[in-house]
Amino acid sequence: MSLPICTYGNPVLRQKAVEVMSVNEDVRALAKEMFETMYLEKGVGLAAEQVGRTERMFVIDIPADGDIGEDGQRDNPTVEMPLVFINPKITGHTDDVQIGPEGCLSFPEIFANVERWYEVDAEFIDIDGNPQRIHAKGLLSRAIQHELDHLDGILLVDRMSHVKKVALGGKLKRMVKETKKAL
Ligand code: NI
Repeated sequence: MSLPICTYGNPVLRQKAVEVMSVNEDVRALAKEMFETMYLEKGVGLAAEQVGRTERMFVIDIPADGDIGEDGQRDNPTVEMPLVFINPKITGHTDDVQIGPEGCLSFPEIFANVERWYEVDAEFIDIDGNPQRIHAKGLLSRAIQHELDHLDGILLVDRMSHVKKVALGGKLKRMVKETKKAL
């Protein structure tokens, strides 16, 4: 069953997520519903807070044709999708950054350029409760950083340039108003 998406203005998006103590049936059921929601909404990543939950977890599924770098090669050929990240942490990154367009299911129809580390190392617990490490490049690296932001209550609007935020001012204000009205 898919879940309703919490849009900008919903206070849950500003909460700090809580560590998952055990990967039990509830957590597995939540992951399944998050995937269903993400696929329905055509996203490549979704954090628990976006469906009104505070578990420290997110899901990512980047299709092979979205995992192509500037050199035309796969960025992460050995990474198997989809991925569930539970209690994730970034443990390292390269110095080079990449500025690229980002969207977010909590900000429908909004895209903004955001600077992210081009490559990151991350640790997390997988859906079977096993510790994992991942080295991610390109869009996968960007998605991990974006979703990890959600778990700390940081949103796309906080990462875009001031100029962009001003340009989107009216749209963002309307979004907050509509979100609050629906709560
Ligand atoms: Ni998002």
